[in-house]
Amino acid sequence: MDCGHQYPTDQIIYTCSVCGGLLDVQHDLDTLRTSISRATFDERLGTLERPYNSGVWRYKELVYPDVADDLIVSRPEGNTNLYDSPRLAAWVGVQKLYLKHEGENPTGSFKDRGMTGGVTQARVLGINRVACASTGNTSASLAAYAAWAGLDGIVFFQNKQIALGKLAQAIAYGATGIQVNADFDRNLELVREVAEKLGIYVLNSINPFRLEGQKTIMIETIQQLRWRVPDWIVVPGGNLGNSSAFGKALYELKALGLIDRLPRLAIIQADGANPLYRSYQNGLKSLEPVHAETIATAIKIGNPVNYRKAVRALHWTGGVVEEVSDQEIMDAKAQIDRTGIGCEPASACSVVGVRKLVEKGVIGRNETVVGILTGHVLKDADAVINYHSNQLDGIEAHYPNHLHQSEATVAALSEILAVREPN
Ligand code: F0G
Repeated sequence: MDCGHQYPTDQIIYTCSVCGGLLDVQHDLDTLRTSISRATFDERLGTLERPYNSGVWRYKELVYPDVADDLIVSRPEGNTNLYDSPRLAAWVGVQKLYLKHEGENPTGSFKDRGMTGGVTQARVLGINRVACASTGNTSASLAAYAAWAGLDGIVFFQNKQIALGKLAQAIAYGATGIQVNADFDRNLELVREVAEKLGIYVLNSINPFRLEGQKTIMIETIQQLRWRVPDWIVVPGGNLGNSSAFGKALYELKALGLIDRLPRLAIIQADGANPLYRSYQNGLKSLEPVHAETIATAIKIGNPVNYRKAVRALHWTGGVVEEVSDQEIMDAKAQIDRTGIGCEPASACSVVGVRKLVEKGVIGRNETVVGILTGHVLKDADAVINYHSNQLDGIEAHYPNHLHQSEATVAALSEILAVREPN
């Protein structure tokens, strides 16, 4: 992405051997401009035929145009709901808030959209072992897609704070799970070194084929809005793969004439894991890694590998970066859960991020906002139970739903229900 050096798609490579920079999958936009239109993708809506029944491969021309269909590893993913959420819109202070629920993917997070691209590429390359470092969701997704494709999956976990749902998934799907005595950032370095030594394919978001899949979150959202572009897209930022993919998707959609303007991107970080936010405060000149701590363990990342691509996305879209506290994250999560759709803690950054940006006057009350919910409510059940029983260190549950205990009598139950506030 920096020096413009090109490599063929069948080369196993993650960073440029000339300048060390990140790699982009480069599409032939001139050819695509004449060969695809909105109708190409609208006609595939609702099809039962693979691979177009996937919300990633519906956009195959924009993801991986010339890959053979029989190599595609798909569950199928995507086709997630875009919820018009008036109650949360009122809570954050805008007229129109949509939530794109990526927790509705096959393994419960947006990672499946990237993993279908990455595991497909592993098959193109003929590699049988795939690996990642993960705060949890990538490992669950890798484990599932590797198993589905008949490949060996390997996942490196940090030594603490992995949400139980994610750990359980990786083990259940049969990946080789290794708990390494290090944080996510160190694990990502290690997985790259070990993979190179042992000939294993790396499926972290440094892998550009993963980001091609994740682009479809944007494309599908805009198609669901009948190709009308919202004013804002708001997304949590950890390793910054999603933010980077969104920028590339939007840039390409505009270049192809499929949309007429770009929405603005708002990237929201936890204030204990905020290297991009700090960089933004300094004009995005450089990245200083931080030691990360947050209850939103999915985004407990101090040295985001996709920093340069995220900066590019911010420049393309006139984007902004905001930070939110763990208290704000958990209260927002309680609000989102309470509407009946739910999400994991990191996802709540999107909603409370909007609230904060509205308060600051950055997002206008009349603007249309799409928030991305990145993971499913069951990913981190501990966080839910501990919040509602007020057992989270340093966090006060402002929207608790206490669990009642009752004797097995009608009288005792009636007493509880008599004092229960109506919804
Ligand atoms: N939300 C959830 C639920 C995540 O799992 C992640 C990342 C993010 C947001 C941040 O996305 O890295 O693209 O900025 N989880 C990774 C993992 C790092 O290992 O599962 P990002």
